Amino acid sequence: MGSTSNCISAEFDDLFIPEIGSWGENKYKIIYDYNSLFSKGMKYRWNNRVYIDLYSGCGKAKIRNTNKILYSSALLALKVNDQYDKYIFCDKDENNINTLAKRVNNEFPNSNVKYVSGDCNEKIDDINNEIPTHSKTNTVLSFCLIDPYSLAIKFDTIKKLGESRIVDFLVLLAFGMDGKRNINSYIQENNNRIDNLLGLTDWRERWKIEEEKGINLVTFLANEFTNKMVSIGYRKETINNFISIRSDEKNLPLYYLMFFSKHPRGYDFWEKVRGRNTEWEFEF
Ligand SMILES: C[S@@+](CC[C@H](N)C(=O)[O-])C[C@H]1O[C@@H](n2cnc3c(N)ncnc32)[C@H](O)[C@@H]1O
Repeated sequence: MGSTSNCISAEFDDLFIPEIGSWGENKYKIIYDYNSLFSKGMKYRWNNRVYIDLYSGCGKAKIRNTNKILYSSALLALKVNDQYDKYIFCDKDENNINTLAKRVNNEFPNSNVKYVSGDCNEKIDDINNEIPTHSKTNTVLSFCLIDPYSLAIKFDTIKKLGESRIVDFLVLLAFGMDGKRNINSYIQENNNRIDNLLGLTDWRERWKIEEEKGINLVTFLANEFTNKMVSIGYRKETINNFISIRSDEKNLPLYYLMFFSKHPRGYDFWEKVRGRNTEWEFEF
């Protein structure tokens, strides 16, 4: 296997390729690195390893103002040496899903892939139906990537997926990109963006108290989200081991990559990935 940089590099093809900011490269390295460790480490321990990508995209991306083409999350998960036993890709944009399917057919024709076209929050039952049923004789371990542009994921969607299954989550939370910039709108009672993210409505009162104490919004939201994950069986240590992705231009925190598992072993892989990606700031 080559370096992670080589593994995430892709070529132009004649299909749609969206443009992204330069910080996306860090995100892809981390996603590839984690998938490589997880899929290999769990290969002989579980009968079925399932990769779920709720915001899958179309398989490739171009770094803005460069000619650099990179594989994006869905194809990165297929590129690992020890492929998952099943892949479930969801995207709201039909063009993205169709483009992804073409790329998968071109590059990974023998992989076991299911596509769900539509809003992952609305299609979660269809997604769940694609996950094999876990039993003692047919064990199932899933890894789910949640990579939206904004704080658009609903906690109820995560709950439906993870509460009664063994699913580790890597969630990109746009606490800086979306939360900080739009908090004045989100605080309004008639705006349900944060209500949906947290699966509750009483966060506004708690935020008022925390804000007066000088707690910043990012810390507050990270704690609230983690508490909700803990309520469905995930472990508390997530709060101490996220990765912060900052913008190259202004060095502002844009996204927090938060990993959630119900099992300590899951955090071993994540800690290795964090250790290898020290050039990106970690803070809390
Ligand atoms: C930030 S991009 C991430 C794409 C990909 N994961 C990557 O590695 O670049 C977000 C993707 O989610 C899709 N999307 C937006 N809202 C969605 C929703 N509610 N359900 C599923 N997909 C959605 C968009 O079409 C877009 O392809």
